[in-house]
Amino acid sequence: MFLPSILICIACSIRLSYSLDKFVAAVYEHVPFFPDPSRAPVTQKEALALMNRNIDVLETAVITAAQKGAHIVVTPEYAICCFDLSRENVFPYLEDIPDPAVNWIPCNDPHRFGRAPVQRRLSCIAKNNSIYFAANFGDKKCCNASDSHCPPDGYYFYDTTVVFDPEGKLVARYHKYHLFFGEPQFNVPEKPEISTFDTPFGKFGIFICYDILFYNPAVTLVTHHNVDTIIFTTAWYNTLPHYSAIQFHSAWALGMRANLLSSNIHNISLDMTGSGIFSPDNLGPYYYNNTVNEGYLVISELNSYTRNSSKWAPVQWQEYASQIKKPIPSKVFRRKLLLDNYTMTELTDAQGCAAVCHHHLCCYLNYSMLEKRSDEVYVLGAYAGYHGPHQVFYIEVCTLVKCTSLETCHIATDTAYTKFESFSLAGTFQSTIVYPEVLLSGVQLDPELFKVLKDGRLASRPKISSKALLSVNLLGRNYMKDPTSLNLSILS
Ligand SMILES: *[C@@H]1O[C@H](CO)[C@@H](O)[C@H](O)[C@H]1NC(C)=O
Ligand SMILES: *[C@@H]1O[C@H](CO)[C@@H](O)[C@H](O)[C@H]1NC(C)=O
Ligand SMILES: *[C@@H]1O[C@H](CO)[C@@H](O)[C@H](O)[C@H]1NC(C)=O
Ligand SMILES: *[C@@H]1O[C@H](CO)[C@@H](O)[C@H](O)[C@H]1NC(C)=O
Ligand SMILES: *[C@@H]1O[C@H](CO)[C@@H](O)[C@H](O)[C@H]1NC(C)=O
Ligand SMILES: *[C@@H]1O[C@H](CO)[C@@H](O)[C@H](O)[C@H]1NC(C)=O
Ligand SMILES: *[C@@H]1O[C@H](CO)[C@@H](O)[C@H](O)[C@H]1NC(C)=O
Repeated sequence: MFLPSILICIACSIRLSYSLDKFVAAVYEHVPFFPDPSRAPVTQKEALALMNRNIDVLETAVITAAQKGAHIVVTPEYAICCFDLSRENVFPYLEDIPDPAVNWIPCNDPHRFGRAPVQRRLSCIAKNNSIYFAANFGDKKCCNASDSHCPPDGYYFYDTTVVFDPEGKLVARYHKYHLFFGEPQFNVPEKPEISTFDTPFGKFGIFICYDILFYNPAVTLVTHHNVDTIIFTTAWYNTLPHYSAIQFHSAWALGMRANLLSSNIHNISLDMTGSGIFSPDNLGPYYYNNTVNEGYLVISELNSYTRNSSKWAPVQWQEYASQIKKPIPSKVFRRKLLLDNYTMTELTDAQGCAAVCHHHLCCYLNYSMLEKRSDEVYVLGAYAGYHGPHQVFYIEVCTLVKCTSLETCHIATDTAYTKFESFSLAGTFQSTIVYPEVLLSGVQLDPELFKVLKDGRLASRPKISSKALLSVNLLGRNYMKDPTSLNLSILS
């Protein structure tokens, strides 16, 4: 056959001709076969059978990724096992995963560390396809009764992401630190782990899901350990208007100026979808589909060394806003967004300026709508304080958001009809890192639509979006004010 062989040759030559300054990454959004909690506990054999069903699907994705020239493929958190299980029921799924320093290729030497069928298989898949392969499952570690933290059953269980290199060698192991409420099957490691590995295309680091909201290890991997690319395995509940997966994860790559290979599981009834290859140069490609339960492989080429690219000067996030002398008086009211009590003002005209302050944070907006519709309202909101029901992290947010009505602003919506000709948003942030987000109707991104200026403005480009605007946000994280700032003292 003529056509396929040409395609394969192109794929080969692309792969060979890559300089180390660029590489091809793949992330796979997987629809997992979850264990049935009502049937638990299962035997080790039954547990392995379920995990193998998932790994069969992941393997197909890895083979496709390798055929398309990918150097690395990332698969999601909870893609293989352990979702929503109790501590007792998770046990048969776990393996003892050794420290990568042992220098082990499970595919060649499967019995060196006891029973390890999952590690063996993952290692063989990496080796067979000559690709870096990141996957997530569960690690168990015996502990001693003399250790006062040791659980009564005598084990620590960890939510764990592992990476095998193209020879099948275990090169990285990371235990999730920030467990999301409701992961009682797992333990928190003693301290945040810094898990990195070097490749011919840059230095990689790992963190998992909820870790992305915190300073350590997520931020420190980039700022203190010079990681270029993050492997981000996640099982992310989309939370509009600020924390939908592709929205916040792409903003993290932009705010941190690092590559983020973000791989989410896919389950529409849990509102889990949204994976992508995000870099400061390009927020995508990505996958988001909330209508069909289908997996998807995202592949893209990206720069290996984003952090030393010369076009980057640090953004002074408060610079522009702090020069504004007097806030324009606007009529304000209070409304909750994601349980936080925002100060808001309505954008009553088709174009103009608005300003709103909450505590020290003042947010300024210039905007122009293509038309002012009567069936939806847009508000500018400001909030500085601890976030959410658990008050575990400190945020500073300037948000331009669509509401169905002023009364229902606290109920997030994923569609909008108003297109904007231009917008420019700035705030008097104390946060050193601010995550810029622009989200379009239907939960879509368009990186061509906006830019971040060095003075801290998030501004539209002179291109009119074909899609209506859902929200424009500057999401500051003042990590220094987090209650868990003991994480910070480890480094300073
Ligand atoms: C790896 O490839 C070999 C040879 O093609 C095959 O026999 C083996 O089953 C493969 N293993 C895995 C885990 O894919
Ligand atoms: C438990 O403690 C004993 C005695 O201190 C030690 O020999 C053993 O290695 C410890 N086991 C583990 C799993 O740490
Ligand atoms: C999605 O998750 C729910 C809740 O765990 C589960 O019952 C359902 O089977 C999952 N859907 C798919 C398509 O896997
Ligand atoms: C989701 O996928 C289905 C089937 O491929 C497609 O028809 C639909 O348009 C997609 N939806 C979105 C939001 O991309
Ligand atoms: C970035 O830094 C790496 C390692 O220090 C170096 O090998 C590479 O050539 C640099 N790339 C650019 C574009 O400066
Ligand atoms: C928000 O805060 C204001 C001022 O502290 C208070 O009066 C108001 O009741 C709060 N609103 C909500 C919705 O909690
Ligand atoms: C909006 O425009 C006015 C007038 O040109 C300017 O003074 C103000 O700084 C602008 N604000 C933003 C956030 O761009």
